[in-house]
Amino acid sequence: MRAKILIVDDDRDILLGLENRIAWMGHEPVTADNGKDALRLIEQGEFDLALLDLELPALSGLEILERARGAAHSERHTVKDADTSYATPLIIILTAFGTIERAVQAMQLGAFDFLTKPFNADHLTVVINKALRAVALHRQVDVLRQEIDHRYDHLVGTNAKMTAQLTIAKQAAQTDVTVLLLGETGTGKEVVARAIHRWSPRRSKPFVAINCASLPEHLLENELFGHEKGSFTGAVKREPGKIEMAEGGTLFLDEIGDMPLPLQTRLLRVIQDQTFYRVGGTQPVHTDVRFVAATNKDIRRAIHQGIFREDLYYRLAVITVTLPPLRDRMDDVPTLAKHFLDRAVRVGVHRSCTLSENAIRALQQYQWPGNIRELENVLMRAAILCPDDILEPLYLQLVDSPLPSTAGSDTGSLPLHYHESMDAYSRKILEEALRRNGWNQTRAAEELGLQRTYLTKLLRQKEISGRQPKDSSSSSEDDSH
Ligand SMILES: Nc1ncnc2c1ncn2[C@@H]1O[C@H](COP(=O)(O)OP(=O)(O)OP(=O)(O)O)[C@@H](O)[C@H]1O
Ligand SMILES: [Mg+2]
Repeated sequence: MRAKILIVDDDRDILLGLENRIAWMGHEPVTADNGKDALRLIEQGEFDLALLDLELPALSGLEILERARGAAHSERHTVKDADTSYATPLIIILTAFGTIERAVQAMQLGAFDFLTKPFNADHLTVVINKALRAVALHRQVDVLRQEIDHRYDHLVGTNAKMTAQLTIAKQAAQTDVTVLLLGETGTGKEVVARAIHRWSPRRSKPFVAINCASLPEHLLENELFGHEKGSFTGAVKREPGKIEMAEGGTLFLDEIGDMPLPLQTRLLRVIQDQTFYRVGGTQPVHTDVRFVAATNKDIRRAIHQGIFREDLYYRLAVITVTLPPLRDRMDDVPTLAKHFLDRAVRVGVHRSCTLSENAIRALQQYQWPGNIRELENVLMRAAILCPDDILEPLYLQLVDSPLPSTAGSDTGSLPLHYHESMDAYSRKILEEALRRNGWNQTRAAEELGLQRTYLTKLLRQKEISGRQPKDSSSSSEDDSH
């Protein structure tokens, strides 16, 4: 990249030397010989990098650094959808021999690195290149962050089953009725929940999501309803809950099937009366919120088991939208695949990439237990791995329908419920990886491409012992402590 680099020093010779060097490196140098000009230029210009002398007339290098960083910080918080240009450049401090302590202070204030005068040309080049790599990385992170924010904005596909369900969702969006979204994991429930909000008259008001499976009961209660000051130790002020945050807009109750029963009762009251009490509160709070809920659980079964309130179900499911699994909308696979590949190109993992006909066929023959999310991940991985512009099936790394046979072999011949099958299969993968690696969790995690801490969490979740069983004869190198 050709970078725009500001050089600030009151020594003319140094300015000239650095200017020449930077131009020679193929970048665009701009110079300033005092602090005031430097700050003005930083505020105006879009510099990628600034080389900043500490000893300057009028305004010291440290002061410039503090002001520039302060401005950048507040900007970050206010300009949410800023483009990828960087508000403040990365700063490299130029310091004379004997002022290292000040340079360290500058680093603590957020400078990227420092260079000691007189400069060694090679060292200078290395430091500048390192800083520019960091700039490029920051930009990529910004692009990715925006991509994540926008990932739920697209509803790709024209499949008839899906379109029929979306028509229902669109009609429901015009009203305030509660919508229940059903569908396997990764079928796009959150995407549709957000679309309902965008299609609704509430679109200019907040869309707030809460995951009912992610928190223990009392925390979830607090998260939903908020609390009054002094309602529990640590409640130093009144905090609004998500219901209040969504005022006028939409509250998305994700994984509603996992909501603890006592909270189901409280939620039912909010939906019926449009009023609620904050935790520790005695005054009812009125609210104007539209509820959209989603689950991949079999709610009827949950009702039957007594873990989901039937009356809440009927309140939530005024309109039900059922998202088909990807295997039932295979005609959308090519368009979705192209959409995800284009995204991979946009975020810079590949310059340009097209699926070969064989690759499309392979995608359409796969069963997609993880649905659209799995398709998205497969294509991102393929785009990263594929060195050419044409993506062949090899890079998709699809395994032929592994679920039924593998899960079934350990669990008898009875057909299993979807989630049970997934659970049985992942247990098997984890246990086999542990066994192969002599119960060394670090090695097993590496083999599975998981973080070690994540593997430990999975083992705990699935109640799998990470230790070698007593009767096992393979060698053990237990590192689970
Ligand atoms: N129609 C679609 N067009 C484009 N992308 C989609 C579509 N549906 C889903 N996706 C993408 O697939 C991924 C999974 O979607 P989403 O998170 O909405 O699924 P979900 O049903 O909520 O899954 P889970 O039950 O696991 O929470 C997301 O990254 C989303 O952007
Ligand atoms: Mg979801």
